[in-house]
Amino acid sequence: MSGVNSAPVERAPEFTGPALQVRNLRKLYPIGGRFFRRAKSNIHAVDDISLDVPAGGSLALVGESGCGKTTAGKLMVKLLDATSGEVRLTHGGGDEIELSSLSGRETKRFRRSAQMIFQDPYESINPRRTVFDTIAEPLVVQRVGNIREREERVLRIMEQVSLTPVASMLMRYPHELSGGQRQRVAIARALVLEPRFVVADEPTSMLDVSVRTGIMMLMLEMRERLNATFVYITHDLAVARYMCDRIAVMYMGKIVEVGETESLLKNPVHPYTRALLSAVPVPDPSVTRSEIQIKGGVARPVDPAPRCRFFDRCLSATEVCETEDHPVLSLREEGRAVACCNF
Ligand SMILES: Nc1ncnc2c1ncn2[C@@H]1O[C@H](COP(=O)(O)OP(=O)(O)O)[C@@H](O)[C@H]1O
Ligand SMILES: [Mg+2]
Repeated sequence: MSGVNSAPVERAPEFTGPALQVRNLRKLYPIGGRFFRRAKSNIHAVDDISLDVPAGGSLALVGESGCGKTTAGKLMVKLLDATSGEVRLTHGGGDEIELSSLSGRETKRFRRSAQMIFQDPYESINPRRTVFDTIAEPLVVQRVGNIREREERVLRIMEQVSLTPVASMLMRYPHELSGGQRQRVAIARALVLEPRFVVADEPTSMLDVSVRTGIMMLMLEMRERLNATFVYITHDLAVARYMCDRIAVMYMGKIVEVGETESLLKNPVHPYTRALLSAVPVPDPSVTRSEIQIKGGVARPVDPAPRCRFFDRCLSATEVCETEDHPVLSLREEGRAVACCNF
């Protein structure tokens, strides 16, 4: 019989293989439709992306504001349903789930192994609930353990995310916390179920510079502790470098380049990745920088022309870039894949 102090850790089964496999994933937002009439246009928020993240690996999704990062992240944890395409997660023993086929009950169960951390902690914490209730809620919803065991898990994760002294934090309300502490509560809440897969959506971008590095270090530490597979969304290449093994660069709903972090930063191939890197050198992740700015600005991807999405801003564009479809992401050396006809 296990005593109160040795509450069994109930965890969803481990992901193996490529833990996350995304295939031809697409999310369109119809606009301009009227009642009983089909929408005239669509915003192509995520436009046919494919990627893999191995078990325990980490991938940064990087790109300018509006390029589809948040939408892609939400699709990966089924907070949004895809227009088409697949998101597969592979559990230990080869069990594979495909998110579009999950029933309501299976989706609830899936939440136990996959969680998202948001940019704004208020997206996941209720201003009228205490720290304790906020962090305990996923355990209650998932019916994990008894009251004593839940309490123990909440206290333990509060220590781990440095919401200390725990006793003085437990009964506080979000408005009594600093921005950094609120994000720690949101992180504790997302991780208390010990998920196998975590999508973190710019969790430091709304925080004071002084607390950003602390939150990034916490995320790295928790990732290691949980041995979880991570997708980390950021507009900042320095943050991506600090946090992840691999980087996928997004532009107007497309992945234009993906590769190992250091190799990609040292030798960017796609003209967009090059432009990003020349616009911002990649130093210390604790330094604040504004969103990436490149000549031309990003158009909203409303019914984009079939040509290369980067055509209008590309300094290397040739005739084929305009006449051919957006190029497919094709594999180069060193696990690098690039969607460009000219390089
Ligand atoms: N619920 C929505 N309805 C309509 N358009 C949306 C919605 N959410 C996002 N978009 C649009 O989809 C595109 C991608 O948005 P988003 O995924 O939030 O990008 P990012 O996180 O990279 O800033 C943007 O053009 C945005 O305006
Ligand atoms: Mg976003």
